Amino acid sequence: MINNYCNHLNVDFDIDRRYLDTLMYNPSYKHKWGPFLIPAEYQCQNFKSWLQQRDLYIGHAEIFHTPPNNITEIHIDGGINDTCIKINWVFGAEASSMKWWQPNEGTNGPILKMTQNNTPYLYYDPHESHAVFESKVGSAAFLNTAEPHNVINLTDQHRWAMSFVIKHRSNASANYETLKNHLSPWIIA
Ligand SMILES: [Fe+2]
Repeated sequence: MINNYCNHLNVDFDIDRRYLDTLMYNPSYKHKWGPFLIPAEYQCQNFKSWLQQRDLYIGHAEIFHTPPNNITEIHIDGGINDTCIKINWVFGAEASSMKWWQPNEGTNGPILKMTQNNTPYLYYDPHESHAVFESKVGSAAFLNTAEPHNVINLTDQHRWAMSFVIKHRSNASANYETLKNHLSPWIIA
């Protein structure tokens, strides 16, 4: 199904998991949700080179943890004037999914909130929103995180997402459709 929410990518490298592994296998992170910033020295060189060939770069890199049997807030990544589009690799909780939403007509707008890294996001009330799309994510997926979305992990496993904001060198505010055109040869579904 053609959609502008979640498109799977065919990449010819494995993402560098060293930083993820330090969190995943550390019992003290079992109940911590993050987001956890991925330090520059752990950001995957193969991924950076792959992006570079397409005039793209990593704007922001972090890890999100959704413990078993949890549903995250409906939100848009970034603040009001950001266009935050991502490529994610998800590990664990294979049956988990991401869901996209639209606010119901006549409802209040979103509420600006901050993550623990002091980055902004826009929160949407689930009682004032309706679902429009749902997909499993896996590895790797191009995601429209500029539309309201959340994570559904009703499995008994931990879900870890390595999550990278993608920017275009000559158009930092490029939207999903524009970036999708740049990535079209590698989109498999
Ligand atoms: Fe998000």
